[in-house]
Amino acid sequence: MAVSFRPLRGSFGAEVVGIDPKLAVDEPTFRSVEEAWYRHSILLFRGLTMSPADHIAFTRRLGPLHIMTPLQYNHPDYPEVFVVANAEENGKPFGMRKVGLGFHTDGEDKVRPNAGSFLHAHKVPPEGGDTMWADMYAAWETLPGEIRRTVAGRRARFSRIDLHHVHYPEEPAWTEEQKRARPDVWHPIARRHPRSGRIALYVGRWAVDIEGLPANEGRELIQTMQAHSRKPEFIYRHSWRVGDAMLWDNRCTLHCATEFDDQRYVRMMFRTTIEGEVPELAIAV
Ligand code: SIN
Repeated sequence: MAVSFRPLRGSFGAEVVGIDPKLAVDEPTFRSVEEAWYRHSILLFRGLTMSPADHIAFTRRLGPLHIMTPLQYNHPDYPEVFVVANAEENGKPFGMRKVGLGFHTDGEDKVRPNAGSFLHAHKVPPEGGDTMWADMYAAWETLPGEIRRTVAGRRARFSRIDLHHVHYPEEPAWTEEQKRARPDVWHPIARRHPRSGRIALYVGRWAVDIEGLPANEGRELIQTMQAHSRKPEFIYRHSWRVGDAMLWDNRCTLHCATEFDDQRYVRMMFRTTIEGEVPELAIAV
């Protein structure tokens, strides 16, 4: 049976209907899913029964896989699977807690940010623990003209060093060694997608200021653009069921996990992550 795509929020997002629950699909079906991914930026699959090996095999068809570090949060038998969970196995923590609470895009603080991510729900709480995605093509297209003209052709500085204590206030301050391992990076604010050719606003939570602008002015503009991209009209919010999986494109979306009562409930998600490319600067806007 041919798969079909049911829109989630206008052209942003689609549910894939009629696909094999283990995602063992032939090449034409795979291609139609891949094309839909570039068209809709986020793809929802429901009722999947894929194993970690199936999950890895499907994601690998989209590109080389990224192994998350530190390795301690990856699945013990499948290092390609990053475990987002407040779970325990054999009396020990299984997975990383409190991942992604804040709009970001995976790997935005690296020279080559991750192209995509694919999150599969294994255990979900009865309430809370939703995930939100922001449509960054729409955010760019609706940015006031004056801001677009100021930032087009410029890069933002993304800094774990400056913002670690802001986003992870409960964790210890970074050591000099950690800082050396994650130096600042600069990425285009208007980013051209290598497959769709469209321009997306690229400012996640590690963006600090803007090259060529006074630091205060750059900081203010970054905050204005971040606030703009989180407006409700750009957001799809997903309440998870077991068996749901979302494939998202990190080049043209942001995402944000939300809180749940982690003393009462277990939430366990498996994520594969796709290697990316150096972001392309869009100059003509
Ligand atoms: C993530 O940021 O990859 C995790 C999102 C989530 O668990 O909802």
